[in-house]
Formats: sequence, structure tokens, C-alpha cells
Amino acid sequence: MKSIFITGTGTGVGKTVVTAGYAYLLQKNGYKVGVMKPVQTGAVDLNGNLHSMDMDFIESVMLMPQAIDRPDLKTPILLHLAASPHLAAENESIKIDPHVIINAYNSIRHDYNPDYLLIEGAGGLYVPITRDYFMFNLIEALHAQVILVADAGLGTINHTMLSIDFLNKHALQLNGVVFNRTSEPISVMEKDNIKIIANISGGVVKAIIPLINGLDVDSAKKGAIRKVFDKFRGVCL
Ligand SMILES: Nc1ncnc2c1ncn2[C@@H]1O[C@H](COP(=O)(O)OP(=O)(O)OP(=O)(O)O)[C@@H](O)[C@H]1O
Ligand SMILES: [Mg+2]
Repeated sequence: MKSIFITGTGTGVGKTVVTAGYAYLLQKNGYKVGVMKPVQTGAVDLNGNLHSMDMDFIESVMLMPQAIDRPDLKTPILLHLAASPHLAAENESIKIDPHVIINAYNSIRHDYNPDYLLIEGAGGLYVPITRDYFMFNLIEALHAQVILVADAGLGTINHTMLSIDFLNKHALQLNGVVFNRTSEPISVMEKDNIKIIANISGGVVKAIIPLINGLDVDSAKKGAIRKVFDKFRGVCL
């Protein structure tokens, strides 16, 4: 099982969209794919049970249902408040035990053993899961490779290089950077930002995903994500 942790330079950068696209693409290429969202804040209440909208979105883009059908494994920590995990947990008088996530991960490996397990983080690398355990600590514990989702526009050189530098300092393995939501055609600034990041970091650009007009949870747009990822035949994980 190859574990890929999808993180981002920040929240709302496109981790869910990128996770969905890769899950689809890997399935299309014949791989058995599992997807995990270890900590979902802002979870919605459906019939008295908390539920991950990110997971719903990802699964709706996939070609076929993932084998992991147990919510306690694929979404082990669901929190109502849309805030950092540590705060959302404290709001519900819960202290998150990272072992719950690690145990869920180990059960997935043991019981399902997909070719790829895609794990969508929350926010970026330094997001607190508890007050003294951060998203990067979880990546270390899971020994996963990292996909870093970044914007391509103004400010991204700083955000992206700080994240890459941090990964290097912690000996975390970067699989690649995905630049999301570029203009079409790509602007001079976006192109130059990507070029500078590739030059400084030694060529880690995995994919460039354009802005998909009107993208939301509407099922009519799932085809648009698939179409974008169909172009990356040779650029998989
Ligand atoms: N390439 C794109 N084209 C158009 N809209 C996009 C694209 N990527 C992301 N979005 C939109 O931007 C918003 C944030 O994207 P997404 O939910 O994937 O971010 P995220 O990093 O997973 O956020 P979170 O930290 O909340 O998990 C969503 O409304 C999504 O539909
Ligand atoms: Mg998300």
C-alpha cells in the first residue's frame, strides 16, 4: 500500500478537489484506491450522525465505490465546529487521541490493503490536531508521502517554499506539488511562480489544475474534474 497524504499551503486551497481527481485517475488506471479523511471539522449532522462532506465529494467523483465502507475507519474523527481540530474538539469536550487515527490507518492497511491510500489533511502542515500534536506529526507517524496543494497566484512562492522547506527539515517525503485553480490560459505571473518554485525546489511540480468554472458540490460538475484529470495520464502518484 502506498500512502499519499494530501496537504496544502492553507485551508480552502483545493485538497478535496485534488484528492477526488487523483482517486478517480488511479481507479481509472486500474488501482485499488482507498481514501481517508482523518479529521473533519465542520462535519454536518445527518440524522443525528456527523458526516464528512469532503468524503462525500471525493467519493462522488471516484469511478466506483472505494472498498473501505466503514466510516469509523475512513473518517475516524468528525467534529461539528468549523475550526482548527484542537479547538473544535475542545468545544465538544473531546481530546483527540492521534492513536485513534493511526489505528484506523493500520486497520485499513490490514483489512483492505488498497494499492493507494489517499489521506486528506485538514488545513496545512502546522494545523494543531491537539495543542501539542500537529498535522505534520501525523504524516510522520503514517510514513506517508506528501502531495502539497498550492495556489499559483500572488503569494504562492512564499507559502509553497515555506511548506517545502518545512517538509525537508522534518525529513518528510514530498511526492510533488499540485498547483490548483490557475487561469485559462495560464497567466504570466502564475507561470513564473511555478517556474521559480520548480527551480528552487528541484522540480517537484506534479500537476497544474485550472480553475473549473462553477465548480461546487453539484453532481453535474463531477465530469469536469474527471475531464481535467484525464489529461494527466503519465503524471500519476
Ligand atoms: N480547480 C478548481 N476550480 C474551481 N473551483 C475550485 C477548484 N479547486 C477548488 N475549488 C473550490 O474551492 C473551494 C475549496 O476547495 P477544496 O474544498 O478542495 O479545498 P480544501 O483545501 O479541501 O479545503 P479544506 O481545508 O476546507 O478541506 C471549494 O468550493 C471548491 O469547489
Ligand atoms: Mg477539504
